Amino acid sequence: MEYRFLGRSGLKVSALSFGAWVTFGDQMNVDAAYECMKTAYDAGCNFFDNAEVYAAGRAETIMGEVFRKAGWRREDLVVSTKLFWGGRANPEGGGYLYGVNDRGLSRKHIVEGTNAALQRLGLDYVDLLFCHRPDLDTPVEETVWAMNHVIQQGKALYWGTSEWSAARIRRAYDFARREHLIPPLMEQPQYNMFHRDRVESEYAPLYEEIGLGTTIWSPLASGILTGKYKDGIPDNSRMALADYAWLRPEVESEAGRAKIAKVQHLEPIARDLGCTLAQLAIAWCLSNDDVSTVITGASRASQVSENMEALAVAERLTPDLLETIETILDNRPRGEHNWRG
Ligand SMILES: NC(=O)c1ccc[n+]([C@@H]2O[C@H](COP(=O)([O-])OP(=O)(O)OC[C@H]3O[C@@H](n4cnc5c(N)ncnc54)[C@H](OP(=O)(O)O)[C@@H]3O)[C@@H](O)[C@H]2O)c1
Repeated sequence: MEYRFLGRSGLKVSALSFGAWVTFGDQMNVDAAYECMKTAYDAGCNFFDNAEVYAAGRAETIMGEVFRKAGWRREDLVVSTKLFWGGRANPEGGGYLYGVNDRGLSRKHIVEGTNAALQRLGLDYVDLLFCHRPDLDTPVEETVWAMNHVIQQGKALYWGTSEWSAARIRRAYDFARREHLIPPLMEQPQYNMFHRDRVESEYAPLYEEIGLGTTIWSPLASGILTGKYKDGIPDNSRMALADYAWLRPEVESEAGRAKIAKVQHLEPIARDLGCTLAQLAIAWCLSNDDVSTVITGASRASQVSENMEALAVAERLTPDLLETIETILDNRPRGEHNWRG
């Protein structure tokens, strides 16, 4: 495994990490989650990602049970969770129930959400605490103070954002610096062959200016980049789950079909490299030096084993091969235009 510094910090995270979205609770019980996490851990993965909203808190409970069952040293783990949607499962089935203060990034929800997440995980602290989305109704200053507070209490070690605009991250960072508070260190954005703008263009100045690290999500675009959807939706995939029907247009719309066609053009490259499409797509994410860690997801241990091999594939991605992939993808973010030519 390769370990990368998380932005401008002294913390090292495995270049490939593992997260609980969709799978823990909805597709996997504790035993299956244990198999996946152990496979990742044995491959050198030290970072495990979660969120209070995943399966209405059950994903954190399952992960906590896995930690206890595995008995790994806390020092060898980097554990994260994310706050924004703190509701609970509707006992009458389907959806979530929210009290008026269960959502967002108020000081109240950050303090209460952190305490509840730690209880579910069975941990004294998380290493990384993310603001899962921007809260347009809470002053960013209140959120910065609240994150500083939970860190000072020892309940989290670093904090960051997920899917915030570069401008909002910069505002939080500048406010924290001015007030001598702990600034955000990392962002958790979507990044894959089909979704590139934020990581490659919008955040570009922040890597150097504020030392932003990135823990990127959905490296396989929810599995589309594995090629598994070319003949429709397999029964045992996330797109077939009733609660995730909203994902289906990602493969069934015209834009979805165009993506699937592009994936087929990537097949010869994977074949020549002697790897799977999933490994190629993950390796491509790893080839970006601004990515601190690629958070992989899997619904079974065999997928984890396959995905963890992507590191070896990344080492074989030459500049020429990356250029060939660019030609196929045809979606390189333009960045700012240089008028000098
Ligand atoms: N911050 C955020 O807003 C946010 C949002 C989403 C995710 N995340 C984090 O990022 C993590 C990864 O995201 P993701 O799960 O969407 O990642 P992904 O890599 O895009 O999709 C993972 C899914 O693809 C399928 N898959 C994985 N490996 C495969 C393989 N080798 N062959 C065939 N199918 C394979 C599995 O689904 P099936 O077997 O069901 O097809 C698996 O659950 C999450 O667990 C979460 O921690 C964060």
